[in-house]
Amino acid sequence: MRTAPAPYSGYHRPLDAPEDAEITRTGRGTPLGELFRRHWQPVALASRIGVHPLALRVLGEDLVLFRSPSGTLGLLHRHCAHRGASLEYGRVEERGLRCCYHGWLFAHDGRLLEAPGEREGTPLLRTACQGAYPVQEVHGLVFAYLGPPEHRPPFPRFDTIGLPDVELVPYSLHYPCNWLQVHENQMDPMHAVFLHTRMGETHFTPAWGEMPVLIYGTHRDRTYYVAVRRVGDHVWVRINEVIVPNVGQVAALWESGEVPRIFQRVGITRWTVPADDESCWILGWRHFGPEVEPPGLGQGNRSLVGHDSLDIYGQSGHRPYAEMQANPGDWEAQVSQRPIAIHALEHRGATDVGVVTLRRQLRAALAGQVDPRQPHGLGSGEDPLPTMTCNVVFARAWTSPPGSAAEREQLKQLGTLVRDAVIAADDLAPDERQAAIGAAISRIAVC
Ligand code: FES
Ligand SMILES: [Fe+2]
Repeated sequence: MRTAPAPYSGYHRPLDAPEDAEITRTGRGTPLGELFRRHWQPVALASRIGVHPLALRVLGEDLVLFRSPSGTLGLLHRHCAHRGASLEYGRVEERGLRCCYHGWLFAHDGRLLEAPGEREGTPLLRTACQGAYPVQEVHGLVFAYLGPPEHRPPFPRFDTIGLPDVELVPYSLHYPCNWLQVHENQMDPMHAVFLHTRMGETHFTPAWGEMPVLIYGTHRDRTYYVAVRRVGDHVWVRINEVIVPNVGQVAALWESGEVPRIFQRVGITRWTVPADDESCWILGWRHFGPEVEPPGLGQGNRSLVGHDSLDIYGQSGHRPYAEMQANPGDWEAQVSQRPIAIHALEHRGATDVGVVTLRRQLRAALAGQVDPRQPHGLGSGEDPLPTMTCNVVFARAWTSPPGSAAEREQLKQLGTLVRDAVIAADDLAPDERQAAIGAAISRIAVC
């Protein structure tokens, strides 16, 4: 048994410890870096590509992204294969990108097309090439695949992408810290009670301040939580998920918990992409539409959604320090966990089960023990990949007193039933799935 620490024990407390490299380091050749390099990653907002190349840093690699006049995208290593000048100063041409220093012209796929200072037919045209990666633009985000060509996967098509009446607005946010502490925040629902509600101003709706009953788990390549709250006469079940290695979805944000909802879908789909091991970008889409931003509740503002900007309080570092201290948000909490949060110095408790579950699943994925993302070929062809994230709200005839153990047990049972209904419909076609989940939730609401 550990002895209680003595008061004024600062001198005896450790100041440092090795970081958890297995699940924080993503450079090329590291286990996690190679896992990232088997998945398509968003690297930039398409709207940021202008007439000049855009310098990027992704997974510790310096790159340039450009678009030729007819629209073809290219993503090349930043340092020229000749003698290393940065291609961010190069000239974009129809056939590719020309280095400013000696005029070498590289095609979009990295082949050296011209070396104008060399003699005609120089062998350099056969032996030199620029590192290049495949890219594609999807709903305003540019995605790249940085892995071995022979392992390039199909682009994942989640069931929340391309829904009717939902507009996808691309955004990015810069976090000067390791990717994992930003990503795992999505499996920390208790921070919504404190950081977003009780500790300062209410960042969402007052219902977020209710202490939820929580269920955590994994399903295929996802870690999820189910947060269940009693809000007046209603029960609000909220499921959020993250998907190996770095995708996350957030259920619609402006939920009061007072209006019935059957499988209301997501407000955000996002990837947390390391620039290097001490900085990262969130890149993703805000979802706008009448279902996920209901009139009267919706407080979204698409004009605030864009490069390093989101319409949610506290998501970027662009506020005065005094305001950050008075009313901190996600950015302050996560960035201040150190450049790379040190897991060995943490004192984890019941509020951290989601984070622990996520870290465990990442390690399992590195060991090849996580079910593949497309168990039935879903997500890559006609049928989209079923995801779990949702809000469900229904009225309830409560028999147990508010805050009682019996009530919490009841909430847990209801959350489990909703979770099971969502998972049970995984293998159905999208329209059948929606109907099956709706029917199941109608039964749960009256059980
Ligand atoms: S360094 Fe690029 S062409 Fe010489
Ligand atoms: Fe948050």
